[in-house]
Amino acid sequence: MRTTILDIQKRKLNGERIPMITAYDYTSAQIADRAGMPMLLVGDSLGMVVAGYTSTLPVTLDEMLYHARAVVRGSQQALVIGDLPFLTYTTIDQAITSAGRMLQEAGVQAVKVEGGAAVTPIVQRLVELGIPVMGHLGFTPQSVSQIGARVQGRQAHTARQLIQDALALEAAGAFAIVLELTPQQLAQAVTARLRIPTIGIGAGAGCDGQVQVWHDLMGLYTDFSPRHSRRYVNLAEAMSQALQSYASDVREGVFPTKEHSASMKDEELQEALRLLDDTD
Ligand code: KIV
Repeated sequence: MRTTILDIQKRKLNGERIPMITAYDYTSAQIADRAGMPMLLVGDSLGMVVAGYTSTLPVTLDEMLYHARAVVRGSQQALVIGDLPFLTYTTIDQAITSAGRMLQEAGVQAVKVEGGAAVTPIVQRLVELGIPVMGHLGFTPQSVSQIGARVQGRQAHTARQLIQDALALEAAGAFAIVLELTPQQLAQAVTARLRIPTIGIGAGAGCDGQVQVWHDLMGLYTDFSPRHSRRYVNLAEAMSQALQSYASDVREGVFPTKEHSASMKDEELQEALRLLDDTD
């Protein structure tokens, strides 16, 4: 049985913190799912960490569907949430089509949209149609060209706006809200005012849950680690060492060995060579 949005909301009521991680493929989804992660986010951050773009803006709905399908196939118990990418929810009709495809074609259980008051009519309609929606406030990467990649809500008027946006998303039916790059005090104030859980990234420990990008947590970057992330393992280093050992074994002829190879009866090969000679 998969985790449901009600299970997630109950965790807030019970005071249980909620971990969430991004996942972009079958293998990582399987690892995270088996590790008991209750929510997997197929984030459009895949445009940066998987595809190497400098922002999430080039990511298309078809690309999200491809990755979301893999994550759904790789998981059994986690609630899978798929990001609606840039410009795929500019009108209610477009949002219904995009979110509908995420649920019907990829099999995710919920979608995530970025923005506050501007997207609440969209959130409300999707929820009315039975599509669970997660909101996303603070630094919203799809607006990077407008707001820059920086902490949002430091001034009284921007902080007030963020609180109002969070309340509006809750009233529209969002089941949870990601708070990205906001001052910890503000995230705490938002969390205290909402019935639905907040999931922070760079928003301090006062949120109901936390989300991290897979590549940051796994240490897959050698030269960059955002301030808000913690490397739980240095996989880039481990992978580099594994690759060097593999290349060295190939160069020295010590891999593969007989154990890694299939065999055939000698007489079958001799017969094949004889047949070959006969046809020449
Ligand atoms: O795309 C993403 O990975 C996200 C998280 C950073 C919350 O939106």
